Amino acid sequence: MRIGIPRESKAGETLVAATAKTATQLQGLGYDVVVESGAGALADQADEAFADAGVTVGSADDVWSSDIVVKINAPSADEIGRLRAGATIISMMAPARSPELVEQLAAQGVTALAMDAVPRISRAQSMDVLSSMANVAGYRAVVEAAHEFGRMFTGQVTAAGKMPPARVFVIGGGVAGLAAIGAAAAMGAVVRAFDVRPEVAEQVESLGGTFVEVDFESEVSTDGYAKEMTAEQEAATAAMYDEEARNADIVISTALIPGRPAPRLVHEGTVAGMKPGSVVVDMAAANGGNVAGTEADQRVVTEHGVTILGYTDLAGRLAAQTSQLFGTNIVNLFKLITPEKDGVLTLDMDDVVQRGVTVVQDGSVMWPPPAVTVSATPQAAPAAAPAPKEPKPALTARGKMAVVLGAIALFWLVNATAPDPIPQHFTVLMLSIVIGYYVIGKVAHALHTPLMSVTNAISGVVVVGALVQVASDDNLIRIMSTVAILLASINIFGGFAVTRRMLAMFSKGA
Ligand SMILES: NC(=O)c1ccc[n+]([C@@H]2O[C@H](COP(=O)([O-])OP(=O)(O)OC[C@H]3O[C@@H](n4cnc5c(N)ncnc54)[C@H](O)[C@@H]3O)[C@@H](O)[C@H]2O)c1
Repeated sequence: MRIGIPRESKAGETLVAATAKTATQLQGLGYDVVVESGAGALADQADEAFADAGVTVGSADDVWSSDIVVKINAPSADEIGRLRAGATIISMMAPARSPELVEQLAAQGVTALAMDAVPRISRAQSMDVLSSMANVAGYRAVVEAAHEFGRMFTGQVTAAGKMPPARVFVIGGGVAGLAAIGAAAAMGAVVRAFDVRPEVAEQVESLGGTFVEVDFESEVSTDGYAKEMTAEQEAATAAMYDEEARNADIVISTALIPGRPAPRLVHEGTVAGMKPGSVVVDMAAANGGNVAGTEADQRVVTEHGVTILGYTDLAGRLAAQTSQLFGTNIVNLFKLITPEKDGVLTLDMDDVVQRGVTVVQDGSVMWPPPAVTVSATPQAAPAAAPAPKEPKPALTARGKMAVVLGAIALFWLVNATAPDPIPQHFTVLMLSIVIGYYVIGKVAHALHTPLMSVTNAISGVVVVGALVQVASDDNLIRIMSTVAILLASINIFGGFAVTRRMLAMFSKGA
């Protein structure tokens, strides 16, 4: 079968659905590929690049008469009219919001696969174009903000004075938000972030951000998407948004609830209270914006000197990167629908991913697909697939009080009854526990591996000390030394076991 890659007709579009590399990969699956002349020009994919890779460069007619047409944006009415009956069109389609498009595609008697309808399950992540684009867009949002912001992101102490780091507040910890957090933290900013889904807190922290805690009822998402906030949740978060935005130099907002207008989270009064020179990048601008004053595709400077960017083409501003990712998502889809690698597209409606993307099949409307009831969370932009967060075993206030009172009682008992020098040693031990609790509790996730090395070294010292004492005549010392050797050994050998398991995760196997 022949796959055609057209030039995008949407005004200002820079992306192309295949690069020379991904077109060659499609050919490796047995397809012929023809790319419209000039299709990749704005994504650093000149006609010569395709030709050099052995991919045919042809006319628009060559492309639109193909068995399969793959593009970025939904086809226009004219483009649908150019598809031959029985052809397959693959692109983003927003089928839930485009009933007319679905009807037109059905009337043309084609099969239509919507790349933006890939279910958010782990197995389909390699085909998830929305995640690919949001990842690039989140990164680019930080670059745009840095470009507008009048100071550096990283804090420095120089001979000419002290520069504080930029304070970035990210709203929404989905794919775009996590990419923004990672990029801003890597540039040296102090990053804080909030999401209504509590399960993303760990990912925020692992990327170098601080998750802003709000005391409100929330539930772990079962499909990777948030639900609309209740009135109580809105009330609980309103003051936090106001305070965080006013304290921030840069706000990047990405909050989205699928199928709904963007929730309005930062209100006019808050924007007016932000420092002059602050920058807002409202990534939800296309859906109405999270921030008051946002205008889609516009750069707005408020009368208080706050710049609000409502660009909706952030992924397209890194056209080469996004086209490569989109093209790779397409190749991964084709791997799934070409099981024999024979250049023949075969749709399996029993497969949840293939069923999920099929909007129209041979002229029959298939939208909407049955709901996917698999638990999944969106992929952390640059990190591995996320695991649902274990609930934290938090100590209640009453529990904490009981521990403190118990410790004071024990401290008093030992000091009152034990012979010298046990009280001195015991005092040092108690102080070490308190200091250690606060110091280690504040260590960033990213530093846990070096922290483990330090605790292993401490365990080594404990073993040496306990070995010296284990031959003592005093039974109590002998017992305590034996227990110390046992516990420290568990830490040392456990460390080896964990390291082995971590290394095995990176091993490609034989
Ligand atoms: N401007 C651009 O060029 C561009 C490009 C790609 C994506 N986007 C947009 O960026 C946004 C994010 O995309 P995504 O793929 O990361 O979506 P996503 O669904 O992965 O993330 C959205 C996040 O917002 C959170 N959220 C919802 N309501 C919230 C609230 N009231 N407070 C805090 N968090 C809330 C959700 O829990 C979710 O984690 C979308 O609006 C998308 O359309 C814009």
